[in-house]
Amino acid sequence: MSYETITVGIEAGVATITINRPKVLNALNETVLTELTKAFRDLKKEASLRAAIITGSGDKSFVAGADIAVMQEMTPLEAKAFVDLGHKCMHAIETAFFPVIAAVNGFALGGGLELALACDFIYASKNAKLGLPEVNLGIFPGFGGTQRLSRLIGKNKAKELIYTAKILNADEALGWGIVNSVYEPADLLGAVKKTIDTILKKGPVAISLVKRVINDGTDLDLTSGLSLEALTFPVIFSTEDKKEGVKAFLEKREAKFIGR
Ligand code: HXC
Repeated sequence: MSYETITVGIEAGVATITINRPKVLNALNETVLTELTKAFRDLKKEASLRAAIITGSGDKSFVAGADIAVMQEMTPLEAKAFVDLGHKCMHAIETAFFPVIAAVNGFALGGGLELALACDFIYASKNAKLGLPEVNLGIFPGFGGTQRLSRLIGKNKAKELIYTAKILNADEALGWGIVNSVYEPADLLGAVKKTIDTILKKGPVAISLVKRVINDGTDLDLTSGLSLEALTFPVIFSTEDKKEGVKAFLEKREAKFIGR
């Protein structure tokens, strides 16, 4: 499938999605959001897919935000359609049955950071700059940042970042708990792939189910979240992979998972 504003490559069960509008630092317009949504809809049909990476083209920017030029003449109704499209896109990413890692290779501002927050976790390059500076434009984060950032780092830290439009460098973002790890720019994709290689050795059904339990469960109160865990856990006992994983341990050998 070919796209106008993104590229999608699949190699050995791992998809790499690159936002490709370098002239505007990969800003998100309707086409990018629509193509990303469609790409994830298609990737979810690939049962053999095990992981995905989202990154930005070039060495300067992951995504510098929603396209500000597009928003200039937007009416409130058009803004509603834009925000809904953004939410649909982030939801398509967040609900992938496989882990999705954001490789933040430069600016991740506004909608760009919101896109990264919809991924399972974020690795950043040392030159990355992250923030939700929308209030500089007299607007506020609308692609999920008010909710996902608050849930990730707590609402008071999210408020400080959003109210002040502070831009964090990669090490500061690490300290704030927004990114998991920071690498030299040349090492970023290699580090993401190394982590994915580790994940690929684990039981795919277990990874898929635990992602869902964590994502859905952390939005619930503790009792309901624990109940979701307890109710989902027995499902894994119906898989070939559980039999193989336990057997391999007892036979002191590496497990060969088949994803069933
Ligand atoms: C449209 C953008 C853009 C954006 C950069 N560009 N960010 N175009 N939307 N978000 C364009 C610039 O206009 C410029 O085009 C080109 O990309 C290069 O950018 P420069 O500003 O020349 O680069 P630099 O001086 O290095 O500054 C980089 C930057 C700055 C700090 C990232 O571009 C910037 O502040 N961008 C806006 C960041 C932002 O506010 N993001 C949040 C957007 S609101 P020309 O034609 O001049 O070469 C948002 C809302 C989400 O995300 C929710 C919506 C519902």
